[in-house]
Amino acid sequence: MALPEWNENMALHLPAIDTQHKQLLAWIKALGDAVQKEEGARIIDDVLQHLINYVHEHFSAEERLMLAHNFPGFADHRREHDFFVSRLKDLHTGITCGEELSVKTLDFLVDWTITHIRGTDQKYGSFVRATAVGAKLD
Ligand SMILES: [Fe+2]
Repeated sequence: MALPEWNENMALHLPAIDTQHKQLLAWIKALGDAVQKEEGARIIDDVLQHLINYVHEHFSAEERLMLAHNFPGFADHRREHDFFVSRLKDLHTGITCGEELSVKTLDFLVDWTITHIRGTDQKYGSFVRATAVGAKLD
């Protein structure tokens, strides 16, 4: 399984958001490490819970930024966030019921996050940069 690394082609050039994306990828990596080391359900669920909390915090920050700049793609973007959050909640429920977190699922989390940052996030990133000339971006 390829664990994610932040790199420049993910940059939105919004410093606070880029920092959050690095942290988000770090939590996914921590989850991948816990699964690969077969840490056990309690520790894996604990890391997953940290990831879920961080995703909430980060998505809320992005959504506030989009609303503050009247980004026209807000509703579609939020739907993508809601989908990912519901998948994470399903995983949490599964682990609580004794299911194991598979490599396939980890690959999904990595792929979704990287595709979202490189695609969907770039759209609001360039919109915010274009509408915030001279304004404080973070
Ligand atoms: Fe996003």
